[in-house]
Amino acid sequence: MYYSTIIPDELFKIKEVKARMILDSRGNPTVQVRVITKGLGVGIANAPSGASTGIHEAVELRDGGRDFHGKGVSKAVSNVNNVIAEALKDMDSRNQYMIDKKMIEIDGTPNKSRLGGNAIVATSLAVAKAAAATYEQPLYMYLGGRFANLLPVPMLNIINGGVHAGNKLDFQEFMIVPAGFKSFSEALKAAVETYHELKRILKERYGPSAINVGDEGGYAPPMEKITEALDALIDAIKAAGYEPGKEIAIALDAASSQFYNKDKNVYVVEGIERSREEMIELYEKLVDEYPIISIEDPLDEEDFEGFAEITKRLGNKVLIVGDDLFTTNPGRFRKGIEAGAANAILVKVNQVGTLSETMMVIEEAKFNNYRTIISHRSGETEDTTIADIAVGLRAGLIKTGAPARGERTAKYNRLLEIEEELDRPVYPGWKAFPRIPV
Ligand code: PGA
Ligand code: ZN
Repeated sequence: MYYSTIIPDELFKIKEVKARMILDSRGNPTVQVRVITKGLGVGIANAPSGASTGIHEAVELRDGGRDFHGKGVSKAVSNVNNVIAEALKDMDSRNQYMIDKKMIEIDGTPNKSRLGGNAIVATSLAVAKAAAATYEQPLYMYLGGRFANLLPVPMLNIINGGVHAGNKLDFQEFMIVPAGFKSFSEALKAAVETYHELKRILKERYGPSAINVGDEGGYAPPMEKITEALDALIDAIKAAGYEPGKEIAIALDAASSQFYNKDKNVYVVEGIERSREEMIELYEKLVDEYPIISIEDPLDEEDFEGFAEITKRLGNKVLIVGDDLFTTNPGRFRKGIEAGAANAILVKVNQVGTLSETMMVIEEAKFNNYRTIISHRSGETEDTTIADIAVGLRAGLIKTGAPARGERTAKYNRLLEIEEELDRPVYPGWKAFPRIPV
């Protein structure tokens, strides 16, 4: 039905691009952009924001100074309204590549620091949404056509540690992965039930303050040992009536650069200094003892060789995911592919900075047998674009926090809506992973 309408090209031309400042989920300013086409298709997108942003990612332009503790975005907003708006006016909103290229050229820096990665990413996504709206199509269908029918397997971060929490857990994220279900909605239901059992268990074991939630909606209990967190997850999965490893598995984001001591070349985990080899042995032991199917950033962000080694040893059983390692940067990803480092890439649209570059990274990943995980940031908004991107580009996996807090549930709710809209939704389940971990 969507393809039968013939809409004059003129109506896809960009009529207006307008930015404003809004707030993100941490109460910091961020950029919202609204694009309107001549056919009155409206696209609105917001820039998310990471907590630990690497030097290889697109730069968020912040004002500095006193207002908002230096985090204001008036320069980025003004760059959209005064520079980008003028440049994109009358361009065909369907020509995403030319539009993104134009912004990159005007910016002229390798890390989008002049116009601002926040200004560029919000505009890039809003353009795509305005084009889709002009077709009267949902974004996922505009991006993927009739092939946009693959719901992602969610990886839900329900225990927080590292820099995202005030406890002593060295790993940043402990996720549950409901892969053993036939549909996205059944999988989400199981994850939600597990999340609530976890709340009960943590309260019993650690007291009422253990159920306060962190930035991504996960709990931040006063635990010290990694195995304590893993045991709590297993108990919660069982208490919810599911089988660990068969129906719900576990994924980790070690975010290990945070506990890596560069001068000594050691990782400090639970107070013990460990070499790269000892870290790999620790992961091997954990994978042996727990149904772990994915480990993100197990080693330092510059250690391509170490990533290649752990991929060789564990890659047939688990996803080895590069987040800080690649920072969704095409150059770094290519280096990783050549080295055999990791077998999956975390894709953050605002790290690379435009939709076109995101699409290229995903293509590159598929060509080289890397799995793709579309990811939120720890600072988010109610924008649900990544849900449509995950389906439209057939990413297979999504990481968008716990099933709590509006900016996280917005993405899950959008996926529920998409599942209902599709004629034949496909949920990949275990096919998104190297193997079932039992
Ligand atoms: P960030 O963290 O959004 O704060 O960078 C998320 C992650 O490490 O995956
Ligand atoms: Zn990460």
